[in-house]
Amino acid sequence: MLNIEDKTILALVDAAKDGFEKAYAPYSNFHVGAAALTASGKIVKGCNVENASYGLTVCAERNCLAQGVIGGEQAFSALVVYTNQEKLTPPCGACRQVIVEFLAPDATVIAVNHNNDKQQWTVNELLPDAFTPKDLLEK
Ligand code: THU
Repeated sequence: MLNIEDKTILALVDAAKDGFEKAYAPYSNFHVGAAALTASGKIVKGCNVENASYGLTVCAERNCLAQGVIGGEQAFSALVVYTNQEKLTPPCGACRQVIVEFLAPDATVIAVNHNNDKQQWTVNELLPDAFTPKDLLEK
């Protein structure tokens, strides 16, 4: 597991909470915020964005990483997911695949809630034996 300083985790949680407050989730009413630490030390954030055509919904984690990519960042060392319920929110399967694209296997993913309860995983724990860009190289 990569070591992330406590003050950086605090900043990531704040940013993820800020994302949470921007969530567009009128259908599920399940608001999610995410924040990621870029390899260059910046913090980017995202929220879930739902759609009347429900299947077009994009999760907070994927919007967060896309926000980083739009800003020119393609590597991230940590990701935080914020919700305000007792049960912490682990990234969904689709998000795990996108996380694997941009975070190293030993990078940290943290779920946190309004009580500051936390659960932490490595990327590899969330999606072992993942299909990655490297799998495309041997044809
Ligand atoms: N959601 C996320 O944003 N991240 C997750 O990891 C789980 C689910 C969103 C998608 C949808 O807007 C709502 O939560 C309910 O599934």
